[in-house]
Amino acid sequence: TRIAIIGVPIEIGTSEPGALMGPAALRTAGLIRTLADLGHDVEDAGDVAPDTSGAARGLPAVARWTRALSERVTAALEGGALPVVLGGDHSLSLGSIDAVLHHCRASQKPVFVLWLDAHADFNTPDTSPSGNVHGMPLAALCGEPGFSELFADQDRPFLDPTRVHLFGLRSIDVGERALVTKARVAVTDMRAIDEFGVVAPLRRILERVATEDGHLHVSFDIDFLDPGIAPAVGTTVPGGATFREAHLIMEMLHDSGLVGSLDVVELNPFLDERGRSARVLVELVASLFGRRILDRPTPVIEAV
Ligand code: ARG
Ligand code: MN
Ligand code: MN
Ligand code: MN
Repeated sequence: TRIAIIGVPIEIGTSEPGALMGPAALRTAGLIRTLADLGHDVEDAGDVAPDTSGAARGLPAVARWTRALSERVTAALEGGALPVVLGGDHSLSLGSIDAVLHHCRASQKPVFVLWLDAHADFNTPDTSPSGNVHGMPLAALCGEPGFSELFADQDRPFLDPTRVHLFGLRSIDVGERALVTKARVAVTDMRAIDEFGVVAPLRRILERVATEDGHLHVSFDIDFLDPGIAPAVGTTVPGGATFREAHLIMEMLHDSGLVGSLDVVELNPFLDERGRSARVLVELVASLFGRRILDRPTPVIEAV
């Protein structure tokens, strides 16, 4: 696979400083070399650096990053590469997914989003208790009101909320929950994972993407993981995915062959312990790009 690495050192979407060091930490932890060693053709496109003079925070400031990143991701997709976007806070998905939506509108492919996250990130400026934009990208992409400052084009394509799948959810705000329910976003929350494991729900999602011949965008927020294995994030929530669950998800994603783009977000190296969270992320990305224990995919054992 041709992979385009795009760093996005944005942290204005969150109140905890440090996420701007995320792309550097992932490179330091060996991301590029690891992917190249797996046999991929990896191009490190460097970091996005929009002109951020003027507005310091809030939607108009985030809009500059969104526009700059959307252009870079579009270029990668048009060039036939698979974009891997390194954050930076989760507001960057406004840019990566905007590009995917534009790209797939042209080819009439339905866009599916797998949102691996402790949070729903479905707040609007109206419902957000914190005002932090990293808690809002999905609402904006799905066309909820309150985001006119973010996108310049009038007929931008919206994300279909019923093709968004929240996976690992265990923290949601009151107004946000009402929006998620009303929009009929698909959810596998932590309770469902405890009851059914990760395999059955993920298989169902992948089957749907395959049936509809969709583009699958995976947005990986490091707080999806349990803080015990990945402490380097400003918004830890107890009870997250284990090392083994997360690896299995990545292996299944790889075997599906359906992933068309990836975000790795919210790594805050300032909060890490000797780089171990960054290293876990690199391991997980490696599994998504084909690292496996034996040189064959794990066999599917049909239910009897
Ligand atoms: N729901 C909270 C908020 O809106 C937390 C969002 C956390 N988002 C994230 N990308 N880590 O502020
Ligand atoms: Mn989160
Ligand atoms: Mn646009
Ligand atoms: Mn998030």
